[in-house]
Amino acid sequence: MILEIIKYGNPILRNKSEEVKELTGDIKTLIENMKETLLSSGNGIGLAAPQVGINKRLFVYSDLDDEKEPKDRLHAIINPVIKKKTGKEIGIEGCLSIPGMHAEVERAYRVVVEGMNEDGDIVRIKAEELLARCLQHEYDHLEGVMYIDIAEPETLEPDEEKKK
Ligand code: CO
Repeated sequence: MILEIIKYGNPILRNKSEEVKELTGDIKTLIENMKETLLSSGNGIGLAAPQVGINKRLFVYSDLDDEKEPKDRLHAIINPVIKKKTGKEIGIEGCLSIPGMHAEVERAYRVVVEGMNEDGDIVRIKAEELLARCLQHEYDHLEGVMYIDIAEPETLEPDEEKKK
């Protein structure tokens, strides 16, 4: 089921989300629906539960492996913790909750994130560049932080119209 993505201004996006205590059927269904919603967004690479109105600590993301079908790139991480951050890089970010905008944001270049996947296994993800950026951006949603809070303000601008 495709879920409604809530937009900037909705206070749910500003709450600190709660830990997932148990991997219930409802949580698994939520994850499936979030994957479907992310896939249907076209250009999104990550979606956090607060963005679909649920203040729980989980998000879905694409591993960006273009050898795979888009749906096979999607993974979930529950109760993620960023264990390590190294380096710095400035890059462009957008957010499905702030459609049509982007800005430059400084993030750690490389991260190690631990959490649980949708099968209940503990996972440790080592990521860099865009995937590391995605994981940090989605993690921030669980803390009620949005990218525009930490972006270089003068770089916030509308996406360009697609050239014909
Ligand atoms: Co976002």
